[in-house]
Amino acid sequence: MGFSPLCLSQSLSFILFLFHFHSTISAPLSSNYQSLSLLQFKQSFSISRSASSEYYCQYPFPKTESWKEGTDCCLWDGVSCDLKTGHVTGLDLSCSMLYGTLLPNNSLFSLHHLQQLDLSFNDFNSSHISSRFGQFSNLTHLNLSSSDLAGQVPLEVSHLSKLVSLDLSWNYDLSLEPICFDKLVRNLTKLRELDLSSVDMSLVVPSSLMNLSSSLSSLKLNDCRLQGKLPSSMGKFKHLQYLDLGENNLTGPIPYDFEQLSELVSLHLSSNNYLSLEPISFDKIVQNLTKLRDLALGSVNMSLVAPNSLTNLSSSLSSLSLWGCGLQGKFPGNIFLLPNLESLDLSDNKGLTGSFPSSNLSNVLSRLGLSNTRISVYLENDLISNLKSLEYMYLSNSNIIRSDLAPLGNLTHLIYLDLSVNNLSGEIPSSLGNLVHLHSLLLGSNNFMGQVPDSLNSLVNLLYLDLSNNQLIGSIHSQLNTLSNLQSLYLSNNLFNGTIPSFLLALPSLQHLDLHNNNLIGNISELQHYSLVYLDLSNNHLHGTIPSSVFKQQNLEVLILASNSGLTGEISSFICKLRFLRVLDLSNSSFSGSMPLCLGNFSNMLSVLHLGMNNLQGTIPSTFSKDNSLEYLNLNGNELEGKISPSIINCTMLEVLDLGNNKIEDTFPCFLETLPRLQILVLKSNKLQGFVKGPTAYNSFSKLRILDISDNNFSGPLPTEYFNSLEAMMASDQNMIYMRARNYSSYVYSIEITWKGVEIELLKIQSTIRVLDLSNNNFTGEIPKVIGKLKALQQLNLSHNSLTGHIQSSLGILANLESLDLSSNLLTGRIPMQLEGLTFLAILNLSHNQLEGPIPSGEQFNTFNASSFEGNLGLCGFQVLKECYGDEAPSLPPSLPPSSFNEGDDSTLFGDGCGWKAVTMGYGCGFVFGVATGYFVFRTKKYLWFLRMVEDKWNLEVNWALLL
Ligand SMILES: *[C@@H]1O[C@H](CO)[C@@H](O)[C@H](O)[C@H]1NC(C)=O
Ligand SMILES: *[C@@H]1O[C@H](CO)[C@@H](O)[C@H](O)[C@H]1NC(C)=O
Ligand SMILES: *[C@@H]1O[C@H](CO)[C@@H](O)[C@H](O)[C@H]1NC(C)=O
Ligand SMILES: *[C@@H]1O[C@H](CO)[C@@H](O)[C@H](O)[C@H]1NC(C)=O
Repeated sequence: MGFSPLCLSQSLSFILFLFHFHSTISAPLSSNYQSLSLLQFKQSFSISRSASSEYYCQYPFPKTESWKEGTDCCLWDGVSCDLKTGHVTGLDLSCSMLYGTLLPNNSLFSLHHLQQLDLSFNDFNSSHISSRFGQFSNLTHLNLSSSDLAGQVPLEVSHLSKLVSLDLSWNYDLSLEPICFDKLVRNLTKLRELDLSSVDMSLVVPSSLMNLSSSLSSLKLNDCRLQGKLPSSMGKFKHLQYLDLGENNLTGPIPYDFEQLSELVSLHLSSNNYLSLEPISFDKIVQNLTKLRDLALGSVNMSLVAPNSLTNLSSSLSSLSLWGCGLQGKFPGNIFLLPNLESLDLSDNKGLTGSFPSSNLSNVLSRLGLSNTRISVYLENDLISNLKSLEYMYLSNSNIIRSDLAPLGNLTHLIYLDLSVNNLSGEIPSSLGNLVHLHSLLLGSNNFMGQVPDSLNSLVNLLYLDLSNNQLIGSIHSQLNTLSNLQSLYLSNNLFNGTIPSFLLALPSLQHLDLHNNNLIGNISELQHYSLVYLDLSNNHLHGTIPSSVFKQQNLEVLILASNSGLTGEISSFICKLRFLRVLDLSNSSFSGSMPLCLGNFSNMLSVLHLGMNNLQGTIPSTFSKDNSLEYLNLNGNELEGKISPSIINCTMLEVLDLGNNKIEDTFPCFLETLPRLQILVLKSNKLQGFVKGPTAYNSFSKLRILDISDNNFSGPLPTEYFNSLEAMMASDQNMIYMRARNYSSYVYSIEITWKGVEIELLKIQSTIRVLDLSNNNFTGEIPKVIGKLKALQQLNLSHNSLTGHIQSSLGILANLESLDLSSNLLTGRIPMQLEGLTFLAILNLSHNQLEGPIPSGEQFNTFNASSFEGNLGLCGFQVLKECYGDEAPSLPPSLPPSSFNEGDDSTLFGDGCGWKAVTMGYGCGFVFGVATGYFVFRTKKYLWFLRMVEDKWNLEVNWALLL
């Protein structure tokens, strides 16, 4: 595009010549230079269909195409002139498919007489708004909306003091500085309409809005990143008809002087999460805003407003949006019956009750949102026949009461139907096949059973279909094979069987395909197109290799094929072509061959890489690129060899690293200690060896919740210095959430660990978990005292080492311990009494040491049996069926007098009201199942030990199983 430099200079000098004389020149001549300017303007852009989206432009049309040299430019499409002077005074090129850069030397700026300029809905390819716009001194209307303009709004726009209407909205990279805004509002005194929606005004203080002309009739500042208190005297804008301050972060109460805005037709304050509306203000607003047709207060805190006060809302209301307002109580039925109501959204008010009427509804209601409310909806013929105009129906997680869903098939205007999360049961009604305009059908998370009805193949306009989390059966063939427009298909967590139908993989626009957790069999056939963004086929019975077309899905962000034990073959290094991949999970399958080394540095977007539980060979990737986003790396359960590459420290976002159950031969990778976010480190069952020395850095491993380096060949003393810096293990986490990827929060982390002696896969990991496992190595020396610092530990395993010395009494401080294993060491001395205080301890293993003396009694200790202590010849106590003598007498439970222990003297025990009955009762209630960490743990009563004694002494049969 463009013209030759010679031509340009000629034209420019011609234009300059004309400028010089233009004030004295007569009309016909002046329109000559105007034609030339317009033609040059035309030439500076190309015509591109995509520049004017059909979504926003009803009739996109390249108006400039009809502009021809030698004809009167005043007659050209989009051009208007002053009849007397012949000056071009208006240019309307909205939706004209213009594409190109709008430079400051554009001939547009020579059209000085312009009064109205509309260039909205074109694509100026991130051009800046030239300061030369300020030269249109007679401009009254300027519209540059949705035209991909960027940069700062120039100060010169404030020179346009005759502006009546200014629209710079929906140019996402445009910003407005406070100084410029200030000048603008002070100088543009004639302004009646101002739309700066989506312009970044984050530095503009909301109170400066008050300097705007009070003659404004329309003010739209949606999504401008306004931050701070909503000005309290908005009432001064008495002529306002349209006010939109939605999608900002305005705070504080909505002032009651809004009542003065009695001309308001439309009020939008939605999505300002810190705005609130007091009952008084609301009442006043409702009473005085009698012309209101459109009221949107979504997310504004209205929890104190009684829903009943909505009764007084203007009867002219056509749209009411009160989603997420914290409304509580019964919603007034008359609102549902407003005669002009077209759109009603009350979603996400969990405390809202009442019932949706089934008759007398406005016959124009086209949008109904009652998701996440308790408003009862009787889905029955009466209602359905009254909702004939409905296009959008949001009834997810709502209170649907129905006998039969079949009548829904009469709502033939429906475009969007959401009935997910409703406990709906029975078969999916085949009448839904009548809803031929549907774009989206959401029936997920119900109890639908049986097969998907064949009639759904009439829904040929469907883009989005969610049937996940039901109990649907059968194969997925004929019912869906006509839905050629599908973009998103969710069928996960059902009982579908058969193969993945090939038509699905041939859908031209398919972006999301989620079939996980079904009974699908067979191979995955080749995809015919390259539109996929999300593919999850995990937890099925699929076979064969990954089809090569998967690696050609350039936009793929999530690829999960895990837990298909029949998936085999190598993981092709072509996978590294998927540069937008964020989640790659091929775990728990049968992939073999070497792991593609490029996986460490092919995408900076990758957050999750899970190839655990396969048969992969070769080495761990040796190059992890800088600035990568990896948060979760799991290669557990393969046959990987070699060393752990120090470049892994480039993974500064890493939270979980699981390399367990491989054949890695290396020393302790102490460089990992610098990973600032590492919370879980599992290196168990490898061939790691040598001393574990450290730390070498400040804050080493300070965020670790789980450290498992068991079953290696580490030697030397326990890593005492590290114990000093494991800060996360020193403090309990009250926040009970499942650990998940930050960059892809629907991915929940899992790991393989030994939990209380059993190897399990933790499918979800509570953030409260704290585990230290150094077992099965060759650690020597004593257990250091500092171990008592790790107060939040739930599981400590030091077994199968060569530890010597006494059991640290400081272990008694680890009050959260549920499992303690010190077995198979060379520990000597007595079991410290302090361990009695570990009330959560459910598993204790001290077996196979050289311990001696009495086993502590009372508290938790009375629940452990001989296996906890076996292989220590010097131990005595009832647990090992060996009486203690002399000073070996077991210590007494603290709350009982010593005399109660004397053999033969049971008077204290049974004599004074502390009879057998009392003991059993106390015992029975004493077992408390606590939910301290998200799984069940024992908390036991003190006197269990006594009960054993009683049992022995009186030969009573105590049904232990029953009591437990
Ligand atoms: C602007 O408008 C005024 C008043 O109508 C007129 O006198 C003047 O010539 C106009 N200026 C331009 C550049 O058109
Ligand atoms: C206000 O507008 C007038 C007239 O166009 C102009 O001369 C002046 O510079 C403007 N002032 C500001 C502060 O922009
Ligand atoms: C919004 O404002 C509140 C209160 O001033 C503040 O705490 C919060 O961080 C802000 N949110 C954003 C996204 O700026
Ligand atoms: C209501 O609107 C009228 C008309 O603008 C105004 O005079 C009055 O002060 C407003 N306030 C109340 C409480 O009605």
